[in-house]
Amino acid sequence: MSGSLSSSVSPERVGLVGLGRIGRNLALNLKDGGVEVVGFDHAPEALAHAVRDGLIAVPSIEALLDALAPPRLVMLALPAGAATEGVLQALLPRLVAGDIIVDLGNAHFDDTAERVRRLRAREVGFLGVGVAGGESGARYGAALMAGGESSAWARVAPVLRKAAARLDGRPQVALLGPEGSGHLAKVAHNAAEYAEMAAIAEIYTFLERILDLGPEETARLFDRWARDDGASYLLEITANILRRDDPLTQRPLIEVVLDRVEHTGTGLWAVQAAQAAGVAVPQVTAALELRLISREQEGRRRRSRDWPRGTVERPDPNEAVPVLENALLLARIGGLVQALELAHEVARSRGWRLALARMLRIWRAGGIVRSPLLQRFEQAVPELSRPGGLLFEPWLARRIRELLPSLRRTVAFAARAGLPVPSLSACLFWLEARHQTSLPTRMTAAQRDYFGGHGVVRADRQGRYHLDGTRVQAG
Ligand code: 6PG
Repeated sequence: MSGSLSSSVSPERVGLVGLGRIGRNLALNLKDGGVEVVGFDHAPEALAHAVRDGLIAVPSIEALLDALAPPRLVMLALPAGAATEGVLQALLPRLVAGDIIVDLGNAHFDDTAERVRRLRAREVGFLGVGVAGGESGARYGAALMAGGESSAWARVAPVLRKAAARLDGRPQVALLGPEGSGHLAKVAHNAAEYAEMAAIAEIYTFLERILDLGPEETARLFDRWARDDGASYLLEITANILRRDDPLTQRPLIEVVLDRVEHTGTGLWAVQAAQAAGVAVPQVTAALELRLISREQEGRRRRSRDWPRGTVERPDPNEAVPVLENALLLARIGGLVQALELAHEVARSRGWRLALARMLRIWRAGGIVRSPLLQRFEQAVPELSRPGGLLFEPWLARRIRELLPSLRRTVAFAARAGLPVPSLSACLFWLEARHQTSLPTRMTAAQRDYFGGHGVVRADRQGRYHLDGTRVQAG
């Protein structure tokens, strides 16, 4: 393919299968750092594009392996599931002891754990590395979260450091834990990403529909918020999007974008894994479910016709804007707490020690959720294992109490106006519930015993009882 593949073997030559947008940009990033990347992709267009970008590309997996001297380092940047497994199956018979595979895709962390164990039996190293930061992160500094064995990590770390996002000039990449820890960290990152994106979108819609602000005015607000204490990359890009005009119609870009949003799995895995591990992540669930509802175009259009609208007076923007800013900040804090509780509990259920403060530092360097706010969370991590949990950490507890009235007002106003704000509502419900001593579940517990004989835990004595006062028999 490319003529630049010489027969001499560089100590920094690595293979890369998958030259899509993330793979190609990572390869260019590594190349800038002096790493020679030999790439392959099943899609001829992706191969051609890589060659046009000056990368070394070979026509097959065999050629890729031949171009590397054992023990080889082969990276995969492929869609999760069948695509990754298919390439792994093609590689496996040709791998030798000491070779290392690095999966840079958005794989499910349990699949990664299984691959680490499966390849260990063949003396082949396998690392699952979560890559965050989008295309520009891949090109100029990605948030890289590794999981797997330290022996494989020692060999891979110097290579990945070259592509990593930096903080205070130092590359931020680390082995966060064993087995699927790196990919779990990426799922947690995406949980926070879903929650922040949804909260921003809901606040934007409030500004647009209820305060009647146009794209330029909302852009100015997001710009300002993106410079405040709660600054974030996602706030910044929201302002940029609002300032853009559509090149086809010259109208504000946001006005021509349909509300339909897809997802590629990590949000769903986050919700499923959190719930299975006993953690509630209602903001992530709400964000995912709104995406699912957004796909139904025709039904929504038909039913919207005679749907009773809410009636509200347009509030004074000078009063409403600071309230919305606070509500958004609280929802972002809620999303981060949920993402961290998810990571902590899912890791614990797998027996993985996950370096959460390190993970947050990596997110802060180059994640889509990067924000100075994350520094607070890095300091708060030890609270996750204490009885009051993260929500009881003094700074967070104080901030939550300060911002809570604004979230209550925003959700109540949106409800009266008939504006769906599922992630803000979910954050509010979750906060209210997490700070109550008596929840509606008291009645649920009684009902379960009434019809199913499951027993209840009594508030006034030890042990499980039926509603008729008899003790629940063991077994
Ligand atoms: C990133 C993002 C990215 C994300 C995809 C898919 O850091 O670049 O987290 O990797 O996983 O954008 O997300 P969706 O589920 O929205 O498709």
